[in-house]
Amino acid sequence: MVERLALHGGPKAVTRVDELKRVSRWPVFTEEEKEAVCKLLESGNVYGSIAEFEREFASYMGVRYALATNNGTSSIHSAYFAVGVGPGDEVITSAYTWHLQVGQILALHAIPVFCDIDPKSACIDPDEVRRKITPRTKAIAVVHPYGAIAPMDELVEIAEEHGIAVVEDCSHAHGAKYKGRMVGTLGDVGCFSLQASKLMTAIEAGVMVTDNEEYYEKACLLGHYERIPKLKSEKYRRFYQPDKEMAPACFGFKYRIHPLAAAIARVQLRHLDEWTEIRRRNMCYITERLREVGEDCGGVLEPPYEAPGTERVWLNYICQYYADKAGVPRERFIEALNAEGLPASRGRTGYLPVYWNPIYEERVSMWGEGYPFDAPYVSRKVSYPRGLCPEAERYYKRTVGLPVLHREAEQELLEEYVWAVEKVLRNLNSLK
Ligand SMILES: Cc1ncc(COP(=O)(O)O)c(C=O)c1O
Repeated sequence: MVERLALHGGPKAVTRVDELKRVSRWPVFTEEEKEAVCKLLESGNVYGSIAEFEREFASYMGVRYALATNNGTSSIHSAYFAVGVGPGDEVITSAYTWHLQVGQILALHAIPVFCDIDPKSACIDPDEVRRKITPRTKAIAVVHPYGAIAPMDELVEIAEEHGIAVVEDCSHAHGAKYKGRMVGTLGDVGCFSLQASKLMTAIEAGVMVTDNEEYYEKACLLGHYERIPKLKSEKYRRFYQPDKEMAPACFGFKYRIHPLAAAIARVQLRHLDEWTEIRRRNMCYITERLREVGEDCGGVLEPPYEAPGTERVWLNYICQYYADKAGVPRERFIEALNAEGLPASRGRTGYLPVYWNPIYEERVSMWGEGYPFDAPYVSRKVSYPRGLCPEAERYYKRTVGLPVLHREAEQELLEEYVWAVEKVLRNLNSLK
């Protein structure tokens, strides 16, 4: 006999309410960030933090170049530009990602080609990628959704076969590993958002990493005019020669990171691995337990997926709930979890198939009549009908978001977390 649901007047499964609130709060800043900011303000060298952050991040990632930017979106723009995406090119992207990863394709007058996901992980499906490649494909954009790592070996192999670039959007995957290698170094360029919700944050910032000198220099040319005099390539250096009577120029953007953000990012980087370990300890335990509970309850709930050979990270904790099998609508399941004291939601706001937005459905002329979708440089008509990526369309309807435990948690709290879910699953009949 299972205890009565809290929704029906039974005791709440979660009693350690303050602890849950404390350990699931994110982001958290300490005296260290405050000191770093004050020290920079008093240093007399307010821009000094940028190069230091880039040096440290490049060393952490084991890459030649890290280019800090004012946000993750600009790092993605820089990456696409760097690998040569231009008007009329096609970029393959997941249908299930943050919209700005796709919007930056349009910003270059290129055409997004949406690809379906593997429903286990929500990562882009390599078989689908293969099917969507055309002679105009310039790059594959790969996101690691919520910290689940995409099958990079397969994706890189496809890219190499076709001589196209892979841009990793690692905005959900700071500190994650794939077969022992750092996520973000597996494709040609890696991009990270350091926005406030991210696992390593500077409140608003981004960073792009690469081993490719040409890509780094092109990214500098796009948005970092002050770096141009130091670039190796004369073809770029000629745009800004301080010793010549000539106005400096870059390709029209200013993507410099705020130095205070860089100072904060340096502190966060120092703690990233230790935080990753704590989150993994908590969330891997919960996942293992929820997998057993889910299977035991008829496969109604699947916890998030960790692919073999990967050490995923936990930006969000997004489960799959099969309302049809359960016979209880998702909203009702979420309501019951909340009543047990476990904050639950439909998942992460804004994560729907990107092409459902009217910009894609209506192929909106963003840059003047017909541009970019029907511009003269576009060689084929790409359309975005409903049903284009059925797995992505189904996936978002099944998501249930539960808290990530970012800090050290007592075993009792982990047990209460699991029990809250188990209790609701074992009581589904009473919710019908
Ligand atoms: C997957 C992904 N890509 C790109 C971005 C854009 O980063 P930013 O908000 O720092 O511009 C985000 C931000 O949430 C994201 O989640």
